[in-house]
Amino acid sequence: MALVRSFDQSSSSLNIEGRGVYLRYPQLSDYEDWATLREESRAFLTPWEPIWPADDLSRTAFRRRIKRYARDIKEDVAYPFFTFRASDNALVGGATISNVRRGVALACSLGYWSGEKYANLGLTSAAVKALFPFVFDTLKLHRIESACLPNNKPSQGLLRKVGYTEEGLARKYLKINGEWQDHLLFALIKGDPVS
Ligand SMILES: CC(C)(COP(=O)(O)OP(=O)(O)OC[C@H]1O[C@@H](n2cnc3c(N)ncnc32)[C@H](O)[C@@H]1OP(=O)(O)O)[C@@H](O)C(=O)NCCC(=O)NCCS
Repeated sequence: MALVRSFDQSSSSLNIEGRGVYLRYPQLSDYEDWATLREESRAFLTPWEPIWPADDLSRTAFRRRIKRYARDIKEDVAYPFFTFRASDNALVGGATISNVRRGVALACSLGYWSGEKYANLGLTSAAVKALFPFVFDTLKLHRIESACLPNNKPSQGLLRKVGYTEEGLARKYLKINGEWQDHLLFALIKGDPVS
């Protein structure tokens, strides 16, 4: 493990609560709900994400995904979460802390998605805000970075709403939907006011 910590970060009982939502690490038993939601939301999500491999929604690929997640958590590389609506425990989306950089950076990236039928209900912004104490106090990082396409108005709205500051435009920053695309970079620094 890359870091000595005062708690077990791989714990399957880790439960992060936000307004109307909670987040926890993905489990094999989430497969049906996750795959159904991703399939129903395919047209809604794919313009904003890396290309989905042909077998992405298969049970086998999900098993591989869970294994990778466990390794990433153990190695302090990434912390993937699924988001659940508190009122009915529905799996509504996800948020992933990735690209954890220690040393002099103490920074990470944060990405998120919502199932189409759960969008614009305030659930993703609640999930993202709920992760801030985890990032700053538990992981002891200093900076969270998120990037979005300049035409992704919902994502920009979310980032501004929860307290991020726009820092600039990065050229051909990520390969999204099969193309290297410019991205707006946003960041939240420990101590920044959050909504
Ligand atoms: C971007 C995304 C995650 C937002 O999730 P969400 O659950 O709808 O977000 P919230 O309901 O918490 O909304 C937060 C803010 O986002 C903005 N927003 C959300 N949906 C919007 C829409 N359809 N149009 C304009 N702004 C929108 C608003 O500013 C909103 O704040 P408000 O409700 O106070 O006006 C969701 O639209 C999504 O998954 N989109 C497809 C995939 C994607 O874009 N992923 C992110 C890549 S960077």
